[in-house]
Amino acid sequence: MTVLLPQRKQRYILTYPGTMYEMSMRELDLGYVFDSKHLHVSSYFLHKGLRAQLLDIFRKAKESGLTTSLDTNDDPDNRWSGDIQLLFKYVDILLPNEREACKLAQVEDLERAAETLAQKVPVVVVKRGSQGAMVRTGKEKHTGFPPVVDMVDPVGAGDSFDAGFVHQFIRRAKVEDCLKFGNVAGALSVTRAGGTEAFRDARHREEFIRKNAPWIGASPKTVPTGPR
Ligand SMILES: Nc1ncnc2c1ncn2[C@@H]1O[C@H](COP(=O)(O)OP(=O)(O)O)[C@@H](O)[C@H]1O
Ligand SMILES: [Mg+2]
Repeated sequence: MTVLLPQRKQRYILTYPGTMYEMSMRELDLGYVFDSKHLHVSSYFLHKGLRAQLLDIFRKAKESGLTTSLDTNDDPDNRWSGDIQLLFKYVDILLPNEREACKLAQVEDLERAAETLAQKVPVVVVKRGSQGAMVRTGKEKHTGFPPVVDMVDPVGAGDSFDAGFVHQFIRRAKVEDCLKFGNVAGALSVTRAGGTEAFRDARHREEFIRKNAPWIGASPKTVPTGPR
């Protein structure tokens, strides 16, 4: 469970970790995980029981032909230790927010952070709240904005963005289309309290899409054309 406490410029996050600190390899059916198309891991620093094995899990996922994504989220200890950098070799999409991107790249300038990270990961997506997000690949740069919404609760926006982006990525959409989906999913998420409520209410969700992203209704899927 997470509560976000916005205090002027600084945002404080209070997370009840539940089982996140304890979950370990024992609880995972890796056969099942590697049987899918894509592996997404979030909150790297909160997975204390799994963290030492994540390098191995990502490496095996790539060996098994999966695409992979990582949303580090914040490091509550503010250490940003170097072990995470080893993982980047097996990550296709890295999805930090702007503060996290700077911490990971160890620079203060956002453009430089994205550029540094893009030298290590094929697709870097930096999330910027109501300012949307930017994507940096080896050769491309894209910026996308979310629809303007009345924000009720930002909890879950980052994860919802990730889901929208990855949803298109695994359908082999162009990164700019992944970005559009990410922004719509992130924006929808903030329109209700809680991380998933806006998605659960089908009427609310459909109305939001009709108003803000009618193109989703017209062609929800990109047809896969071959291996990525
Ligand atoms: N106030 C907002 N209005 C519209 N979209 C938003 C708003 N806040 C967040 N989003 C969407 O959610 C995404 C993720 O939010 P952000 O706060 O940057 O991530 P995180 O929760 O990981 O810090 C943004 O890139 C944007 O698409
Ligand atoms: Mg986040």
